[in-house]
Amino acid sequence: MNIYTSVDAMRTASRAAHPNGQRLGFVPTMGALHQGHLALVRAAKAQSDVVAASIFVNPLQFGPKEDLNKYPRNFERDRKLLETEGVAILFAPSVDEMYPEKAIAYVNVEGLSDRLDSKSRPGHFRGVTTVVSKLFHIVEPDLAFFGQKDAAQVAIIRRMVRDLNVPVEIVVCPIVREPDGLAMSSRNAYLDVQQRKSARVLHRSLLYVQKLFQQGERDAGRLLAAGKEVFSQEPSVRADYFEIVNPETLEPVAEITQRTLVAAAGFVGNTRLIDNILLG
Ligand code: PAJ
Repeated sequence: MNIYTSVDAMRTASRAAHPNGQRLGFVPTMGALHQGHLALVRAAKAQSDVVAASIFVNPLQFGPKEDLNKYPRNFERDRKLLETEGVAILFAPSVDEMYPEKAIAYVNVEGLSDRLDSKSRPGHFRGVTTVVSKLFHIVEPDLAFFGQKDAAQVAIIRRMVRDLNVPVEIVVCPIVREPDGLAMSSRNAYLDVQQRKSARVLHRSLLYVQKLFQQGERDAGRLLAAGKEVFSQEPSVRADYFEIVNPETLEPVAEITQRTLVAAAGFVGNTRLIDNILLG
């Protein structure tokens, strides 16, 4: 695996790595890799000829009071994992390389970027779409792989790609979970033993909504009330949002007539965790 830290070297290597119409698959990450990330790499391996990945903890998507400085970083471990999975090129730029002094251009998906997570993380999605757009320009992948874990991120990136005619195919992979159902996340490392147990309430409340849906309930209000009720049984987890929305527009729906996203976020101590399921 070749590692590049400069934009120019990465672009040159990326172009050279997939000659003659070979397809380049790309997996952008912020590192602290777990099986969720590696599932994306494996999907990329299966669907493309050459795989590139990136590790960049993007300051632009963290709020001023968020965990940018303590976000887990373990480059050597991540490097070995990606190498073992057969990643050919790794882009690991510095903050200065990605954001030269006085950078003032941003990419924003209006409207969508104000829903779900952005209510408690204003500016977060603008940071995501800006960095993902930059990464797409640097790596120039044919396919890019994202996790359903970040359902709002998926909707917003898909919309960015569509509206700006970005020549990349977005592939979305299922959520990888711990044996007890907790969605894998780099932030799970912040949880102590008790918090780790409490955190299961996210998935538990979503499963309850799914069960009622499978029993025939289609009214979003009743499904939400039931999901929130389960959520509130774990008082140590403070709900951030619990919503039933259209997975593309992220707008709330009243009745479930098609594929619908049930998304939940909560604070376990200071750690903010998210999870979701798709109905229909
Ligand atoms: P990060 O949180 O490192 O996640 C990188 C990718 O892994 C994302 O597409 C995310 O949805 C996926 N992922 C994380 N946990 C997962 C799980 N349990 N199952 C399946 N996929 C999972 O998301 C980001 O980084 C950043 O916003 C990024 C896109 C890299 C832009 O900075």
